[in-house]
Amino acid sequence: MTKLLLRALAGETLPTPPIWMMRQAGRYLPEYRATRAKAGDFLSLCYNPDLAAEVTLQPIRRYGFDASILFADILLVPQALGSDLWFVTGEGPRLSTITTAEQVDQLRPADEVHETLNPIYRTVSILAAELPRETTLIGFAGAPWTVATYMVAGRGTKDQGPAHAFKDADRAAFTRLIDRITDATIEYLSAQIDAGAEVVKLFDSWAGSLKGRDFDDFAIAPARRIIADLKARHPGVPVIAFPREAGERYVGFAKATGADCVAIDNSVASEWAAKHVQPEICVQGNMDPRHMVTGGPELVAEAQRITRNLRNGPHVFNLGHGITPDADPDNVARMIEAVRTA
Ligand code: CP3
Repeated sequence: MTKLLLRALAGETLPTPPIWMMRQAGRYLPEYRATRAKAGDFLSLCYNPDLAAEVTLQPIRRYGFDASILFADILLVPQALGSDLWFVTGEGPRLSTITTAEQVDQLRPADEVHETLNPIYRTVSILAAELPRETTLIGFAGAPWTVATYMVAGRGTKDQGPAHAFKDADRAAFTRLIDRITDATIEYLSAQIDAGAEVVKLFDSWAGSLKGRDFDDFAIAPARRIIADLKARHPGVPVIAFPREAGERYVGFAKATGADCVAIDNSVASEWAAKHVQPEICVQGNMDPRHMVTGGPELVAEAQRITRNLRNGPHVFNLGHGITPDADPDNVARMIEAVRTA
């Protein structure tokens, strides 16, 4: 009996879709907050395999999701490449900035990232041993463009202005930065698979700010290279791609990159995705995370509407983006119940 998520990713249309949530281990759960307090801070939690495995398992125990996503962060790769990284409480991540060709060329080579990232692979092995047999283990990394936006700016930005400025001022150097992150990401994801990840996901949270040729060069091309290399090394391991806010460019994305599933955000209609994306590939998504805060009959109606709209093809039920810290944990149980009875 193959796991539900793997069946959907292989292209099977199922009576009930597999369910998981982006950021399912997170601050909306009291048990997460308790474990994080024990670890001290967010990065110490990421690098502590026992505690990181514990918070990964918490939402599985509470809700019985069909998939479990490794607890870590996309910004661990920049740290492994040599950027300084810290988190400011209430504000988010901070990194040393990269704004010159010389700084790009000083980054550590891809095969040296394991020194920093070894604890993450240990977390994956613990999870592979401890997860229930029906639960699929998902590994992940940030896609190169999204990771580069943080490395260049040194923080999250509204319009990714600093990364666009670097790209437009010195396209060759910026392309080298993307290539370095791409190489590191291949090593990182490959090691996660060796440790027991059954699926990997690429988070391109800022793909929506790339237009035209930039989208081809910095969203599609790196994803295509990562997926081709992973498929050569680990045949049969599915890849989920999330080019968030790609809009019309969700169409054809799987074919252009080799992804087995395209995750869509909640700015596109599920009816549209059923018509234009699902005929090509498995679709993941796309409930607005606000419903996890507001709840009520609208939550149930929306979860059932999405499930029914995407019922005639391969579908993985998820949110359109991560669940927020102000979400009510009871609403998550209501959402799962609504999807399974749709
Ligand atoms: O989905 C999961 O549960 C797996 C773990 C995971 C985290 N971050 C844990 C986390 C994953 C897959 C990510 C991805 C990630 N991290 C992305 C891409 C997806 C997205 O949300 O768009 C990005 C852009 C980051 C970078 C990042 N990490 C930011 C901007 C922040 C601060 C914002 C915030 O929510 O506080 C983080 C911190 C972070 N990563 C938290 C968690 C649970 C909150 C940290 C805490 O406990 O204080």
